[in-house]
Amino acid sequence: HHHEMSADMASMPDHSHASSSAIACEAIVEEDTDAPVKTYELVAARTVLSLGNGKTKAARTFNGTSPGPELRVTEGDKVVVTLKNKDIEDGVTLHWHGINVPCSQDGVAGVSQDAVAPGEQFTYTFVADEPGTYWYHSHQMSSIQARMGLLGSIVVLPKSAGAETEIMDVNAIYQELDSTPLLNGSAEGLTLDGHPGDLVRLRLTNAGNGTLRFRVDGASFQVAAMDGHELNEPGPLRDVEVPVGAGQRYDLLFRIPDSHKVVVRSDSLKNLPITIGEGAVPPESGGKERFSFVDYGSPLAEGQDRKPAADRGFELKLGQSLFVNTINGRSFHEIPPMNVKEGETVRIAIVNEGGGDHPFHIHGHTFRVWSKNGVPLTGSPVYLDTLLTTKGDRFEVTLTADNPGLWMAHCHNLEHASMGMSMMLNYE
Ligand code: C2O
Ligand code: CU
Repeated sequence: HHHEMSADMASMPDHSHASSSAIACEAIVEEDTDAPVKTYELVAARTVLSLGNGKTKAARTFNGTSPGPELRVTEGDKVVVTLKNKDIEDGVTLHWHGINVPCSQDGVAGVSQDAVAPGEQFTYTFVADEPGTYWYHSHQMSSIQARMGLLGSIVVLPKSAGAETEIMDVNAIYQELDSTPLLNGSAEGLTLDGHPGDLVRLRLTNAGNGTLRFRVDGASFQVAAMDGHELNEPGPLRDVEVPVGAGQRYDLLFRIPDSHKVVVRSDSLKNLPITIGEGAVPPESGGKERFSFVDYGSPLAEGQDRKPAADRGFELKLGQSLFVNTINGRSFHEIPPMNVKEGETVRIAIVNEGGGDHPFHIHGHTFRVWSKNGVPLTGSPVYLDTLLTTKGDRFEVTLTADNPGLWMAHCHNLEHASMGMSMMLNYE
């Protein structure tokens, strides 16, 4: 059957005034668990922010800051977050980007809940069972609210800390507050202490709308994880640009050398370097080779790594012209959902037909990438929740339909999403 719904799209002007909506998710079943509980309160409010460069900006914040508080939990924790809306007129929600929460906790206004009105609150509960770098953002009129500041990081640390305790763990979340680029809320980049020999895990989150290409000057590095998922045997890289699409996370691993600091920068972020350590500034790398996960790292042991037979197949052609963004030539409300049954293996071809980069995000599921432009991946298995596509790309991914509900799938250039490049994944 066909769901009539209104889903968090800025192109739907009457949405915030809807008195009720078709909520498509079943209520969460609270399981008895003795997992440690991590409790947070996030208060959404209008705030005037200072940006660290003497300037101020009208923003929307969580607990008075943008990004909001960095939530750090441990694998297996039960996370309980109460969202309070102080005075955001359009209402607000929390979406846990990349964390496969139950549908009712997914925070999509008009799909999994109504937006939380001023003076009201909503409590999200989920178990953080996959370690990694994730983020949260409002999913009510997201293209506007994320740009105004309603976002933050959530890091799930692995349970077996062990050696990890010796790692300097740095989070850097990029956003465009209105149109001002910020890293961790600063318009001047990040400067961090560090000593020769320190091992650094740099968690890069792109919470903006465009693709960022980062370089690491002063050290060779590894791409340890993408979208929170560790890569198998990631090799050393040097003079290579890492393209981080909007919504994606890359964890980079490097050691601070004796002679100088490490500077991580992006040409599109000239004034926002991440500088770690002491000593001389390293020379800028000349190389412009682009990181590709297609042949990076190593496959798992033989036999464990075969593409599963699919029960269903879909092809999504992402297209963009001046005023309309489409999937298979149609915009949001006209796009038939991907209908799946619980337990099925679903194959999806994601094709970029131009207009720009389209980082495609699927809610509630992690998908595995099998091929790019017909060429199978030969390196590490790659699991993502957001796939960066550039013009002409064709990727084949699979996902396991193991999280029942109604889920959004959309371009994470949120302006493209709001102009139509959004659809649903629907459990029949
Ligand atoms: Cu981070 Cu529906 O998105
Ligand atoms: Cu797009």
